[in-house]
Parts: sequence; structure tokens; C-alpha cells
Amino acid sequence: MDYLQIVGGKKLGGSVKISGAKNAALPLIASTILAKNGVKISNLPDVKDINTLLRLLENLGAAYTYEGNEAFIETSGLEKTTATYDIVRTMRASILVLGPLLSRFGHCEVSLPGGCAIGQRPIDLHLKALELMGAKIDIKNGYVLATAPDGLKGAQILFDKITVTGTENILMAAVLAKGKTTIINAAKEPEVTQLCQVLKDAGVDIEGIESEEITIYGTAGELLDFKPVEVIPDRIEAGTYLCAGAVTNSKISVENVEPLHLEAVLSKLTQMGFGLDVDRDRITINPAENIKPVKIVTKEYPGFPTDMQAQFMALATQAQGPSIIEERLFENRFMHASELMRFGADISLQGSVATVFGPKKLFGADVMATDLRASSALVLAALAAEGVSNIHRIYHLDRGYERLEEKLNMLGADVRRLKE
Ligand code: EPZ
Repeated sequence: MDYLQIVGGKKLGGSVKISGAKNAALPLIASTILAKNGVKISNLPDVKDINTLLRLLENLGAAYTYEGNEAFIETSGLEKTTATYDIVRTMRASILVLGPLLSRFGHCEVSLPGGCAIGQRPIDLHLKALELMGAKIDIKNGYVLATAPDGLKGAQILFDKITVTGTENILMAAVLAKGKTTIINAAKEPEVTQLCQVLKDAGVDIEGIESEEITIYGTAGELLDFKPVEVIPDRIEAGTYLCAGAVTNSKISVENVEPLHLEAVLSKLTQMGFGLDVDRDRITINPAENIKPVKIVTKEYPGFPTDMQAQFMALATQAQGPSIIEERLFENRFMHASELMRFGADISLQGSVATVFGPKKLFGADVMATDLRASSALVLAALAAEGVSNIHRIYHLDRGYERLEEKLNMLGADVRRLKE
């Protein structure tokens, strides 16, 4: 197993190019199940999760090429409909094939994703919505068995909670359904918006894109004619690198970004005292004279993203005073707190609220990554810490950050990937 060795305490500088968004790319790849033509997807991040989903499609009978951040996916030969346990257990987002497989084939079998390090993460809302569309759902031997022998029918879906992949799954189910589907309380994340836009460009009549009420007029089984797609920039990767600049109080730039997608994050960095220069597709963070504490509550987009919570916890260790971080989306997303304390952070947890008492001088330590974003918080703490840190179990990082050590080293960090 690989681990990262980081010699911390260095100032960073320069500029880093942000990759395409993993969480936009995954539903886009799943949506190719709905295509009648081969689909070209560019600006794909070269990360583990993308390879996993491509492999899943290949197991189902699709063909693809993937080189230089560009994939060409041909699903016309797709004939199997079972997403097996061995793949789904490595990546929960595999559940994204449920909607498109069911709407194209009238049945499918998808291994039920279990809980994970950040919480229970049920998929009940996906399943209830599909039932409203006429599907029959059984859970047997750890699999979701979904059937819709007469095809899915349009329905009015009101999500009790805003769900990102739930909205994406139902969007993809609805495009081949018969009639009109309305999703109320839909997610508005930029990744959802891109999926809507791509489906619209492929000929589906969709109204209410970017709003909490999306209406889809299904094609009654007619497959779609996709145009080439370019994945939007990864707002979470961009936010993570901005935090790398912030936690080391250095001037760095992120390039190939969409600043509009980062408003909540940029606003918190500004409140903490960092100067930001925002251009069309580039953001520069400047050192703060005095890093101020911050109050953060995670929310659905356009609120502050749960996927940036861990990174801000690492950053808050350097603020002049106590910061309050409240996690509202996932019930168990503070696993990084105890690992951050190994660097010398002072964090107290009470239910869904963490208080981070800054400023604390951090020192290098051996720490263990528990999930993707928790891992990036440990990297940030290691960059700020004096001395050497070893971050173990970095396969979590490899799921979502493309060439992390190379990009950090280009900014002047000292990061090495070693074998345990
Ligand atoms: C997506 O997960 C992202 N994953 C996550 O990214 C992200 O943290 C999350 O949205 C929130 O922004 C992808 O896009 C692939 P949800 P998702 O359904 O869709 C509850 C990362 O690090 N819920 O919006 O699985 C759920 O438990 C990650 O890249 C139900 O109760 O999240 C949670 O409390 C990890 N029943 C809340 O809703 C359901 O059927 C929001 O979850 C579905 C969700």
C-alpha cells in the first residue's frame, strides 16, 4: 500500500491547473447507458473512481477507450444489467447506473451500497422515487432488484431530503420514461446542472434546470443522441488547493476553475482574512495578516459544501481564535478530527458541531486517512506542520484527486509517495 510522506512548514507559490470534476464525470459516464451513439467525454479526471465506473460499464458489455483525460464510450453492445458487489462496494456512486439501466432495459440488479466512513448513506429516496415511476423494487441477497416490465412512467417526485445522486438517478430514469416527470426539492449542485444540460443537448425536453423543480418529458424508450461533453472543473479540488495556500499562508493560484461554483468557499476564505483575486477561470489567494476564526454550517449547494468541511477544519487550526463547524449533511463526517489532533490540533466535538481552538502550532505525525475529503484535510495539516508526516491509506485520496503529489510539489511542497 502507498503512503504519502510530507515535509511540512514550507511556503507554497505558483499556480496549479484544476482537473475535471469527479462528481460531475460519474453521472455523465452513467448517462451514456441512455445513448444510441458513442459518446466522447473530455476533461475527465484521471482518478480511481472514474476507472471503476468505466470498468463497471465494460462488465455490462459497453466498450470504451480512455486516454489523456478523454474517454469514448459506446454502450450499444451493453446487454448485462447486473452491477456486482465487487465493484459497488469499492464505490458507492455505482448506484448511478440504477436509473439508466432500469429505464433502458426494464429491469436491473444493483448491489446495495452499504454504509461508509461518513455515515449510513441510505438510498431509500432513489428507490421510493423509482417506485412512484412504476418500478417494482425488491432487496434480495444484498441486491436491489428493480423491474418495470411495461417501462417507467413519468411521475411527480417530491424528495424529502435534497439528494445529489438521487436527483441524478431519477433524471436519468425519467428521460426514457413515458410522459412527464417533475422532481421537486431537486439538488442544484453544478454537477446536477451539467447532467441536465447534457441530457437536454442530447434532445430531451427539460425545464427548470438549476432550480429546485425540474421537469423532464420522457422519450418513451427512444435512446438519445449525445453531443461531445466537456466535464466542468472540480470545485472541491479547487477549494482544497486554495486551502493549501491558506493553511501555509502563501500566495497561490488555481487555474481552469469556475469561480461561480465556489462562492460559498470563497466567501469563507475572505471572512478569514485572505485576499482573493478572482478572474474568469482563475483564482489567486493571498496571505492573510491575521487569520480570523470562522463559523461554517454545511448545506446543499449553493450553501457551504460538506465536501470542503474537513479541509476548513484543518485550516481553522491556524486561525486566531475558536472556529465553529457544523456538519448538517452527514451524521459521521468528523473522522478527521481525531487524526488532526495527532498533529497537535485542539478540537472538541459535540454531536454535529466541532469547535476548533486556534491557533495551534502543528507538528508532523503519522496519521490515517478515513475517506476522500478527510484525507485531504490531513494533507493540508501536514503541509502546515513542522517536520515530517506520513499519511497512510491514501487509496482514499487516489479515488478523487488527480496527481495530488505532483501538483503539490509544483507549488513548492515536499511530498513523496512511498510504499508501506
Ligand atoms: C454526493 O453524494 C456526492 N457524491 C458526495 O461527494 C457529496 O458529499 C454529497 O453528494 C453531498 O454533497 C457524488 O456526487 C458521487 P446525497 P450523495 O444523496 O449523492 C441522505 C465526495 O467526497 N440521503 O446528496 O450520496 C444522505 O444520507 C463525496 O466526493 C437519504 O437519507 O449524497 C445524506 O445525509 C462523498 N436517502 C443526505 O441525504 C437517500 O436515498 C445528502 O446525501 C439519499 C440520501
